[in-house]
Amino acid sequence: MLIGVPKEIKPDEFRVGLTPAAVGEFVAHGHKVVVETNAGAGIDAGDDAYRAAGATIAATAREVFAADMVVKVKEPQPSEWTELRPNQILFTYLHLAADAPQARGLMASGVTAVAYETVTDAKGHLPLLAPMSEVAGRLSIQAAATVLEKPHGGRGVLLGGVPGVPPGKVVVIGGGVVGTQAARIAVGLGAQVTVLDRSLPRLAELDDLFAGRVVTRFSTRDALAEEIAAADAVIGAVLVPGATAPKLITRAQLSTMKPGAVLVDVAIDQGGCFETSHPTTHHAPTFVVDGIVHYCVANMPGAVPLTSSHALTHATLPFGLALADHGLAALARDPHLRNGLNVHNGRITHRAVAESLNLDFADPDQLMAA
Ligand SMILES: NC(=O)c1ccc[n+]([C@@H]2O[C@H](COP(=O)([O-])OP(=O)(O)OC[C@H]3O[C@@H](n4cnc5c(N)ncnc54)[C@H](O)[C@@H]3O)[C@@H](O)[C@H]2O)c1
Repeated sequence: MLIGVPKEIKPDEFRVGLTPAAVGEFVAHGHKVVVETNAGAGIDAGDDAYRAAGATIAATAREVFAADMVVKVKEPQPSEWTELRPNQILFTYLHLAADAPQARGLMASGVTAVAYETVTDAKGHLPLLAPMSEVAGRLSIQAAATVLEKPHGGRGVLLGGVPGVPPGKVVVIGGGVVGTQAARIAVGLGAQVTVLDRSLPRLAELDDLFAGRVVTRFSTRDALAEEIAAADAVIGAVLVPGATAPKLITRAQLSTMKPGAVLVDVAIDQGGCFETSHPTTHHAPTFVVDGIVHYCVANMPGAVPLTSSHALTHATLPFGLALADHGLAALARDPHLRNGLNVHNGRITHRAVAESLNLDFADPDQLMAA
């Protein structure tokens, strides 16, 4: 199969769909890979690195979009929808549920679109979303630590403290993938860390994992109110699968917080878990409401494309190879990969996406069995 890797064109996106090492794996499986020139510039992988891995370099995106399977990072942009065609596989993040124009564009193209974010594993987790949650979780504490510095608008607290001066207090709401990695980095910096979650089994796991170095707390309204009033930094890391994030801190509650405290809303890509959040970019990541600094960047992993691209391709590689080796039969063989199928032959094939967009649902189990 011919695999195409375009240069990402979404603003502020420096990741790439396949690293040179991943290209080498496709080539070892007998496939051909065509990479758009400079596609790896954001991860310090020049065209020569891709050539050395066995790829050919194309001067234009059009040549890359002629491939049998296109592997990307971000959802295709309008100028890319028109390059896609029937009997072609698109393998990338799509986040279609809130993006009707893109859904229409993909349906019109006839492409078979497999979305990273809905591929599942045997435990019911989302293995192609997890690496970016790990990155965002770790990054959230770097962001909080920076924004807490006075010149960045924060209250001027060093998270680790110094001998004789107490450390800063970090409150993490949601102890899943993002929350666990945030807690890990905050502990590493020497901060005082509390993690709140609604899942007792998850709190028990965190209690074991951090062996007393993190306080775990069941998340009630009262507990949350008490914790945020004492916090220097709050990390919003909740997820209710398939739903927009619950609003856990109201505007009225901001006045109970310390002036210059920081809210990092990692859940902003699901609508945000603080009432006062709105999406921001890496160029202008923060804004202040009632004296509280908000950091709400919707694509946090894009800030560290080198780490993120490697982490992403490690997770996508087995699925990408299965699609390359077996074509659409890979979807028939593997129900977890089939859960990633969002659009096929002009129809929406993911139930939640179809319901969100109010479009007809075509059952992929039946389509692939046919
Ligand atoms: N901004 C970004 O760049 C970026 C990057 C990656 C992930 N995210 C987002 O971060 C969020 C968290 O992702 P994740 O992978 O850690 O999810 P996850 O499913 O691993 O963890 C979510 C946790 O939230 C808990 N939770 C749900 N409702 C709660 C409530 N009311 N109070 C307390 N805890 C509650 C759940 O029990 C679970 O443990 C998601 O919205 C995800 O889309 C954002």
